[in-house]
Amino acid sequence: MNFNEGMLREGALKGKNILVTGGGTGLGRSMGSYFLELGANLVITSRKLDVLQQTAEEMMREKGGKVLALACDVRDIEQVEQMWADANQEFGQIHVVLNNAAGNFISPTERLSTNAFNTVLDIVLKGTSQVTLTAGKDWIKKKQSGTFLNIVTTYAWTGSGYVVPSAAAKAGVLAMTRSLAVEWAKYGIRSNAIAPGPFPTEGAWSRLLPGDLVKKFDPAKKVPVGRVGDHQELANLAAYLVSDFSSYVNGEVMTIDGGEWLQGAGE
Ligand code: HXC
Repeated sequence: MNFNEGMLREGALKGKNILVTGGGTGLGRSMGSYFLELGANLVITSRKLDVLQQTAEEMMREKGGKVLALACDVRDIEQVEQMWADANQEFGQIHVVLNNAAGNFISPTERLSTNAFNTVLDIVLKGTSQVTLTAGKDWIKKKQSGTFLNIVTTYAWTGSGYVVPSAAAKAGVLAMTRSLAVEWAKYGIRSNAIAPGPFPTEGAWSRLLPGDLVKKFDPAKKVPVGRVGDHQELANLAAYLVSDFSSYVNGEVMTIDGGEWLQGAGE
């Protein structure tokens, strides 16, 4: 076996309908794709319906299964509620919510406008809480169990300069993950988080870093294992955490970063 092969057996997610916010591109797409390969059906959301629809078609062609593309800005509660209603209408029940949608700017904090700061807080913390509350209330009302998986980052607990709104918002998401793990376990609702380190995606680094910096930027430099992550390694962990194999894992944050944050903390 290679580290970049699928870990779970075929059909491990059969019968699960999984919502992935920010599922049209990047890590959300990779995790969703693997869920599909394992037999799940998917709902993918983002603001860009054209991107989502193309992703959905490609995923179904490559992996089979059913993928529903729904436009939704997680900052807008009306859009979130409509998306949840449409997803349930299509699949009858959603079993898993993967809160993956995020926004971020790398910037000296004093140069951020109030609107820029709030934009990141709104996407990451308010957006995640709105999707979580909408799903959780519905699951509790219908006496359905469910699983949340939230994507955070290690600077949610270490802190980090130049990404202050993101760090503050991700810290909030992590606190919410742990708190709901305690409060909603009695309803059969689990909440966990993953903190990924550097994984290459289509545009995150080039969008976040200025042109001259992105050319010099070596994302593996501070990673003790000496390389960036492979999307399949993250997808394997995510699939485990949304599957029933992890039924006794609740309120946990699992870091997958090759040891990067410990290295950073020691400097
Ligand atoms: C500072 C910026 C800015 C930038 C926009 N703004 N870009 N400020 N630096 N690079 C300001 C604008 O001037 C505006 O403030 C306010 O932010 C809102 O901008 P809009 O363009 O209206 O926002 P919106 O259209 O809602 O777009 C949101 C977005 C977008 C965050 C800007 O890029 C987005 O949705 N990105 C999603 C993808 C993403 O960023 N993923 C990265 C996640 S990865 P004013 O005051 O002018 O009105 C991650 C881990 C990374 O987080 C770890 C790296 C270290």
